[in-house]
Amino acid sequence: MIQDLSGEKIVITAGATREEIDPVRFISNHSSGKMGFALAEAAAGRGAIVTLITGATTIEPPAGIKRIRRAFSAEEMMLAASEEVTVATTVFIAAAAVADYRPVRRAENKIKRGAGNLVIEFEPTSDILAEISKNRHANLTVVGFAAETTDLIEHARRKLARKNLDLIVANDVSQSDAGFGSDDNRVVILSHDGALVQLPLLPKTEVANRILDALLDFRQARF
Ligand code: CTP
Repeated sequence: MIQDLSGEKIVITAGATREEIDPVRFISNHSSGKMGFALAEAAAGRGAIVTLITGATTIEPPAGIKRIRRAFSAEEMMLAASEEVTVATTVFIAAAAVADYRPVRRAENKIKRGAGNLVIEFEPTSDILAEISKNRHANLTVVGFAAETTDLIEHARRKLARKNLDLIVANDVSQSDAGFGSDDNRVVILSHDGALVQLPLLPKTEVANRILDALLDFRQARF
């Protein structure tokens, strides 16, 4: 394989976070980790030094990634990302599906069934991608994902601007043949200068390579 990412130091988040409600329950989402893992594997195969920060996933992380950190909650993932993204890091890719809210209080003991409704209050978590982007050094390229169910491109463009990203990979998670859990994905890659690449339904391994191609094109201002 062409080593066109040699010299790059890439930090990737993958998988779902879990926010605990009590010792036996948590709130999470359908992310399998497959897209983030495919990116890690493809980047390493093309010569990058990859650090993978992974939440809960349905598959094992790819063999061959030397540095893997487990982070289960959004706060653990935030801490891991802020430690792993250093001045030497050249690319940060946020492929994880991070919980936007967590319970205000984690019950110390298992919540028992009662007669009435159960109300749990939630508070916002840190936005890892926005934080890393805000504190970035000049040579860090920041790539986010946008999982949407309506107005894909419009929402992705707004997210790209709000989080100050270089590139955003948008996918419509309401499609049954792509996205969560699937081995395939259909994405649109947008850059902050307005360029757009629309990809057909492809295996996530192929999508990963196309995202890395877009990253290199973006760097060389050819995107
Ligand atoms: N993300 C993150 N930390 C969060 C939430 C999201 O790093 N607490 C990152 C994801 O990894 C992804 C991007 O932000 O790269 C977009 O995530 P998404 O859930 O689609 O967007 P939100 O910021 O949650 O916006 P909204 O709820 O309005 O769709």
